[in-house]
Amino acid sequence: MENEKKQKKNDFLEFLEKKKIPIWFMRQAGRYLPEYMEIRKNQKDFLAMCYNPKISSLLTLQPIQRFDFDFAIIFSDILVVLDALGYNVKFLDRVGPVVEKKNSFLDLDHNVLKMKNSKLQTVYESISIVKKMLQENKQLIGFVGAPWTLACYAYYGKSLREFHEIKAFAYNNQQEFAHLIKVLTNSCLLHASKQLEAGADIIQIFDSWSGALNEEDYKKWVLEPLREVCISLKAKYPSKGIIWFPRGSMAHYGYILQESKKFFSEFIDCISIDHTTSIKWISDLLDEDVCIQGNLDPAILLSHNTVQIDKAVDSILGVFAKKKSRCVFNLGHGILPDTKIENVSRVIRRVRNFWHNG
Ligand code: CP3
Repeated sequence: MENEKKQKKNDFLEFLEKKKIPIWFMRQAGRYLPEYMEIRKNQKDFLAMCYNPKISSLLTLQPIQRFDFDFAIIFSDILVVLDALGYNVKFLDRVGPVVEKKNSFLDLDHNVLKMKNSKLQTVYESISIVKKMLQENKQLIGFVGAPWTLACYAYYGKSLREFHEIKAFAYNNQQEFAHLIKVLTNSCLLHASKQLEAGADIIQIFDSWSGALNEEDYKKWVLEPLREVCISLKAKYPSKGIIWFPRGSMAHYGYILQESKKFFSEFIDCISIDHTTSIKWISDLLDEDVCIQGNLDPAILLSHNTVQIDKAVDSILGVFAKKKSRCVFNLGHGILPDTKIENVSRVIRRVRNFWHNG
């Protein structure tokens, strides 16, 4: 028991102890910020911005300078890993990402990511720049897309809501699909490791499409790869933190947390909760030593109704207050492009005042 508690100590958790309720927002650098649009308007290509360490480090720091968020998240995208694996990824205006389709997944090999000329090197360069520029009282988050979510983009070539075809493909071509998940798991591990080596304090794992799966497939394609990645990362980088964001997974939390309690206590420092999940329910379900991050609905920041905004913030803070430590205030998903700046400032002020008064 004492052993377990010792393992749980790392720089991220110590940082949380000092800050009590730190705050950052998913996609905090982006189109709702005029200073982002100022840079964006001269850049045709979103991916080129991600691969330019000078620009991506600058964009990473913009929301920190404006809002004094407690965490910076490196300006990049989950799809850079597919791009580096040899898929041609493009981001089209008003369409979103378009990923080149391949005839087979069998010849994919994660070892290409290790090459000196891999485009991912620019991400690590950007991380080391940001780390040097970031104040000591902030931490830097690196991130990866989880294998299942990346597999959905590799299969469909774009964002979707329904996933029948990829599931049928996986049932019909078990070996090929297992190979795809394996390559993506190894890639995820490699990319996360390099980001931690370059200076990231934490890795957030985004599994945006995990909610689409049944229990058996969830265990195979979400939990097994997650286990593999987290166990290796914790063995190599015990002082660094891991945040897991399994979007839309409310239906799965019951058995996940029951069957894998020990794994979560040991290997996951924080679960990021989306806004469709009750934060009170998950807070009661989770062990005290797993931190909660979340879960304000990003849509609320589009509204003029400040009473409603305050109420939504207070309801999350009420749950956090009972948990006392190890909570991170965040959105339940990425900030929306039409978000009002004054609403972001309002939420930050309210969270910080709550802590000072409470
Ligand atoms: O949080 C941050 O500030 C870090 C940057 C970040 C981006 N994408 C920048 C981005 C992060 C963490 C991501 C993760 C990401 N990217 C996910 C997982 C999280 C989620 O949203 O579920 C996914 C699925 C993607 C893929 C992706 N990238 C899509 C579907 C889109 C198009 C939708 C959109 O918002 O335009 C993107 C584009 C993207 N990624 C932008 C940014 C700032 C907008 C690009 C622009 O300026 O045109």
